[in-house]
Amino acid sequence: MEIVRSLDQMKQTARVAQNAGRLIGFVPTMGALHEGHLSLVRAAKQLCSPVIVSIFVNPAQFGPGEDLEKYPRNLERDCAMLESLGADCVFAPEAAEIYPCGFGTWVHVSGLSEKWEGRVRPGHFQGVCTVVLKLFEIVRPRFAFFGRKDAQQARILQQMVRDLNLDAEIVVCPVVREPDGLALSSRNAYLNPAERRAATALYRSLDAARNKIAAGERLSAQLLDAVNSVIRAEPLAKLDYAALVDANSFEPVDFLQGDCLLLLAARFGSTRLIDNLLIEQQGPQFAIRL
Ligand code: PAJ
Repeated sequence: MEIVRSLDQMKQTARVAQNAGRLIGFVPTMGALHEGHLSLVRAAKQLCSPVIVSIFVNPAQFGPGEDLEKYPRNLERDCAMLESLGADCVFAPEAAEIYPCGFGTWVHVSGLSEKWEGRVRPGHFQGVCTVVLKLFEIVRPRFAFFGRKDAQQARILQQMVRDLNLDAEIVVCPVVREPDGLALSSRNAYLNPAERRAATALYRSLDAARNKIAAGERLSAQLLDAVNSVIRAEPLAKLDYAALVDANSFEPVDFLQGDCLLLLAARFGSTRLIDNLLIEQQGPQFAIRL
């Protein structure tokens, strides 16, 4: 497995693969890899060769007072995991090369970026879109793999690809969870044992909504009631938002129709976690994906 630090070298490697007609698969990450990330690499391996994984803690997507400094970093361990999975190349650039002195061009997907996560974290999605566009230009992927764990991020990046006529196709992969339902996240490492136990409230509340849907409930207010009562019963959980939205526009809906997402964000101590439930309409039925 090749480990590339320099942007020029990465460009060269990617262009050699592209010119040879190979199908480049790309998995952008911020490192501190877990099974969620690895599931994306496996999905990429099934479809593409070579598979390139980037590891870059992107300063532009962290707000003031967020966890940029304490964000977990362990390049050696990450590379060992990727090597054993059969990734072909790791791109781990320096921040100074991605954002050189005088950097001043930003990608902003308007509308979608202002809602939900964007409202709580102003500038976050602009930072994400800018770095992902730059990485796409360096790596030239045919397919790029993202997790539905960050559903709004995946949707915004699909919009960026469409609006800018990019060649990369975004593939959205399922949420990988701990045995007790907590979605894997690098930020789970910040939770103390009591917060870690409390954090299962996210999954439990989405599961409560899933059961309601399975029993025939279609109204947003009723589904959100079920979510809220599980979260309220957990003293260490502080709800940021719970919303049933259209999976395309991210606008709230009053009842299930078409594909919807039940979005959830909550704080456990100083750690903020997000999760979601995907509800896909299939004829008169709804397929529910946790
Ligand atoms: P990061 O948080 O490292 O996540 C990298 C990818 O892993 C994202 O597509 C995310 O949705 C996916 N992922 C995280 N946890 C997951 C889980 N439990 N199940 C499935 N997929 C999961 O997201 C970012 O980095 C950054 O914003 C990035 C896109 C790399 C841009 O800097």
